[in-house]
Amino acid sequence: MSLNKSSKIGVAGAGTMGTGIAQIAATFGHDVYLFDAYPEQLETSKKSLENILNRQVEKGRMSTDEIEGILSRIHFVDHIKDFAGCDIVFEAIVENLQAKKDQLARIEAIISKTCILASNTSSLSIASISSGLKKPVRFLGIHFFNPAPVMKLVEIIPGISTESEFTNHARRLISSWNKITVLAKDTPGFIVNRVARPFYGEALRIYEEGIANHATIDWALKVLGGFKMGPFELMDLIGHDVNYAVTESVFKAFYYDPRFKPSFAQKRLVEAGRLGKKSGIGFYDYREHANNTEPHLDETLGNEILNRILVMLINEAADAVFMNIATVEDVDLAMKHGVNYPKGLLEWADELGPNWVLSELETLQDYYGEDRYRPNPLLKQKAKDGEYFHEKR
Ligand SMILES: NC(=O)c1ccc[n+]([C@@H]2O[C@H](COP(=O)([O-])OP(=O)(O)OC[C@H]3O[C@@H](n4cnc5c(N)ncnc54)[C@H](O)[C@@H]3O)[C@@H](O)[C@H]2O)c1
Repeated sequence: MSLNKSSKIGVAGAGTMGTGIAQIAATFGHDVYLFDAYPEQLETSKKSLENILNRQVEKGRMSTDEIEGILSRIHFVDHIKDFAGCDIVFEAIVENLQAKKDQLARIEAIISKTCILASNTSSLSIASISSGLKKPVRFLGIHFFNPAPVMKLVEIIPGISTESEFTNHARRLISSWNKITVLAKDTPGFIVNRVARPFYGEALRIYEEGIANHATIDWALKVLGGFKMGPFELMDLIGHDVNYAVTESVFKAFYYDPRFKPSFAQKRLVEAGRLGKKSGIGFYDYREHANNTEPHLDETLGNEILNRILVMLINEAADAVFMNIATVEDVDLAMKHGVNYPKGLLEWADELGPNWVLSELETLQDYYGEDRYRPNPLLKQKAKDGEYFHEKR
């Protein structure tokens, strides 16, 4: 069995992610069966897809023939019986373990023996979702980023029972859709949502300590660090309810490791209903005539802030390699293409020198006396042996 252009694709859940995955597959010539438990959602999905594709025509990126072709290949179906002829089915329904297990068990009863099953979960373990399946060997995580048609990265996550044959077939298919695939171990947050935690967490900690206001921290990361968005702007955009829930679930999943500790400042925003852009106010005020705090343009302070967040991110990237979550190359690809970091974190570590990164972390650990700042053993070894994460050319 191998997957190719004539493979039929099933997608369960016609929300943001399911619609995006269906669009990608149909763009690459596949017949797609897009199912949702709520028929009105199928209508919404179809309308949003038509709008997105029509905008592509207006911008001159696609022809009317192309979008008609894409839309004709997507079959909006209100029953999973249409998955019977599919070669791979992507589950992108609500992020609820029981709902996913129930839906996948129903799908498994219909699909062929060789059909691959995948989940787009962001926070549940692949092992837990697979526990309800009769044949978990053909089930894996395939994690797209939002918006799926735009974001280049896809994390491929084999579960404890997945046979490599299925992982390889699925990975080749996704790569043929012009995506960058990285392989990740089935651990909380996979690569991106784990390694990115300090971008928010350390920024919040600096803010809570009163070292700088949110606008200054954002300015430091963007102007001095080259990040596209500052952490506070980004949290306001994601929504504090969503970002706080992810932080809390990663913290619990890592058995309360202080590296992932959530922040009171963010919790209070959630409690007060200041969820960010969507509610008109978060750290920034998006309402008309709002007076927003200005950044304090002090380069010495800005570099201190940038370096502190950066070394914490690098320490997390090193930990992902040390704990065999992913390779050095995949961790760097994941952060560049999953969250648009200006450089791979381990490339960055090599540029700054593992020795320098280690000494910054040791300074933080000495000052705070907290386990949160403990340097990763792999970073320590690289610094001690004068090695780099990537081979120096
Ligand atoms: N939105 C993101 O940024 C993002 C990014 C990566 C991964 N994810 C993951 O992708 C999945 C879907 O997220 P989303 O943002 O598209 O959610 P969404 O709420 O936009 O869509 C979920 C869809 O599933 C449908 N649904 C609910 N229960 C169902 C069931 N039992 N059977 C069939 N359909 C059902 C809903 O009607 C809805 O259309 C989740 O697992 C989420 O964690 C989301």
